[in-house]
Amino acid sequence: MPTKRRLVMSLPLTADVNARAVSEFDVAPPPRPMSRDEVISAACEHGAEALLVGLNLRLSAEDLNRLPGGVRVIATSSVGFEHIDVAAARSRGIVVANTPDVLTDATADTHMLLLLGACRRVKEHVRNMDGGWTIRNGFAQGLGVEVTGRTMGIVGMGRIGRAVAERARGFRMPILYHNRVRLSPDLEGGAKYYGKLEDMLPHCQVLSLNLPGGQGVLMTAARFAALPEGAIFLNSARGSLVDEEALIEALASGQLGAAGLDVFQKEPGYDQRLNALPNTFLLPHIGSATIETRSAMGMRALDNIAAVLNGGVAPDEVKA
Ligand code: DGY
Repeated sequence: MPTKRRLVMSLPLTADVNARAVSEFDVAPPPRPMSRDEVISAACEHGAEALLVGLNLRLSAEDLNRLPGGVRVIATSSVGFEHIDVAAARSRGIVVANTPDVLTDATADTHMLLLLGACRRVKEHVRNMDGGWTIRNGFAQGLGVEVTGRTMGIVGMGRIGRAVAERARGFRMPILYHNRVRLSPDLEGGAKYYGKLEDMLPHCQVLSLNLPGGQGVLMTAARFAALPEGAIFLNSARGSLVDEEALIEALASGQLGAAGLDVFQKEPGYDQRLNALPNTFLLPHIGSATIETRSAMGMRALDNIAAVLNGGVAPDEVKA
């Protein structure tokens, strides 16, 4: 029986993933997410060869320097990897791997929930129902805006952006997109490409952020102002892409008709002014939160760790 490789998990994953981790590796999944210092101490004590972490564990160059020299791979159970200094990891000979693909559908589904929730004023209606339905809406009260046929502009036409476009086509929404590079016609699927975001914004009745984080603020006051008045804004990507002051201002003034948000500058404990606005539909970063997807993400992280510790290449090595 070969000795099991030493792994430290920074957080408990789904039961099936925890069980596989224990059967394949020398690891004790923790009962709760660990802090960065706890993870580093555990890695040193355990002589870890691999770490399995989540989105909320930031690992800077300094943190990576505190890890034991035997760590060869850090797998994050997330598609986003901006919480890890990948260049610093590489310079220490540590492979960083993420979990692309497996969360595409769940995240795109959540995005459609944001679209429907924002357009149809779901927060207000749910509050009315939670209060026992004491307010009867008149014929012209509580009205949302039509989803079907609204023009959607997608920023970031990667896997998730394309999965959103596929769903939006089911609502007969014309699709525009802005991306670093133009896609091939088969991937475009009839969507209209804009090389400059500024050129696309005035045509977006719905603006949808589907790009990775870690690239600074994309949505500024000027860009919100460039949208048609009453536009719907959706973000299931990262809160760091948005100037939240500008967003609040645009929602309060009516420049934006509504926003559907799954991500925030500060998570948890987001800016309560967003909650106080009637025209927001808010979720607590649940894009990938289905049983199937979270299990697939954890399994994928274990696949990446196993590949590296067995002398192979991580299927999802982050190259950035
Ligand atoms: C990710 O994996 O980066 C998502 O934001 C998690 O839901």
